[in-house]
Amino acid sequence: MATALKNDVFLRALMREPVPYTPVWLMRQAGRYLPEYRATRAQAGSFLNLCKSKELATEVTLQPLERFPLDAAILFSDILTVPDAMGLGLSFAEGEGPRFAHPLRDETAIRKLAVPDVGSELQYVFDAVSSIRKALDGRVPLIGFSGSPFTLACYMIEGSGSDSYSTVKTMLYDRPELLHHILDVNARTVIDYLNAQVDAGAQALMIFDTWGGALAAGKYQEFSLAYMQRVVAGLKREAEGRRVPVILFTKGGGLWLEDMAATGCDALGVDWTVDLGAARQRVGSQVALQGNFDPVALMASPSAIEAEVARLLAAYGTGTGHIFNLGHGIGQFTPSDNVSVLVESVHKLSKTYHL
Ligand code: CP3
Repeated sequence: MATALKNDVFLRALMREPVPYTPVWLMRQAGRYLPEYRATRAQAGSFLNLCKSKELATEVTLQPLERFPLDAAILFSDILTVPDAMGLGLSFAEGEGPRFAHPLRDETAIRKLAVPDVGSELQYVFDAVSSIRKALDGRVPLIGFSGSPFTLACYMIEGSGSDSYSTVKTMLYDRPELLHHILDVNARTVIDYLNAQVDAGAQALMIFDTWGGALAAGKYQEFSLAYMQRVVAGLKREAEGRRVPVILFTKGGGLWLEDMAATGCDALGVDWTVDLGAARQRVGSQVALQGNFDPVALMASPSAIEAEVARLLAAYGTGTGHIFNLGHGIGQFTPSDNVSVLVESVHKLSKTYHL
């Protein structure tokens, strides 16, 4: 039997239950802005080696928790391990983004794409989850994650990051049935992958739809949201006698919050382009909301950071259902002292909203 959670404020806020303060964690909280992360990464030799070593992945997952009183830990891994397990050949060249050796560029390759056996191809991720849970010893809950079927498809088709996603979007308009095939395989894989993370000990799940916001109205619903809805419907929602909440995050998805809330997820991630108070009114009591702080504001002075925290807490207002986070991942040049200011001001200033 797993150790009882000492701090479940994050899980309770996701379920919109009363909490004493607003919980906070940060997207990409383990990463290059921390010198200790850079040291462990150097020891691993590469980012992928770091993901594949359960000892080192555990170490970097816990690093931000040693510095800041965060209310959740997130598995250290990457969304692109999934297409790698499908045989696309992932690498990260120094100073560049991710690259696939075998992107999906022709119909033959696309028709051959199949759901991998996650238990053999991605066992290293589940081993990391179990190892992190053990090391956390109930300190805070552990979040498991995956990319959305559409965001994974963007990288699988483009072969790398892209400014316009023109290859994937051209396929969407010219050969929608091919894109639907890829998305179908991705959705089935993501279900297996996330359920195996829950079996290994993940206590909440987050689906990162980083590029869904690049889609046209209508196309978002057909090519990204519909597949996230399928994923949500296929997930185990209870483990260790407790709900496993699911957070959906479409960056740039502010216009579609009502549609996202209707998928059956427990919470929505929002970027900094939405007004948190208005977003809360729009989704009502259906879901909790996470995020909203502009990560670039972490480059500003401590007093500006505190003012911005106060503004977002006031925008959400009193009551539960808010998880403080950034609107996207933390930048690599962020001063760690500013992260302390952020986390401490959330805890301090939010108490009056939970009386
Ligand atoms: O949040 C965390 O602390 C957990 C770890 C995590 C990473 N990537 C580690 C990582 C998570 C949740 C991700 C998700 C991820 N990866 C997303 C979705 C979220 C988002 O940011 O939009 C995406 C699109 C990726 C793909 C990816 N991985 C890119 C484009 C890059 C290169 C650009 C960059 O920021 O470096 C990565 C590499 C990566 N993933 C790093 C880390 C810490 C940096 C690797 C390094 O040490 O050089």
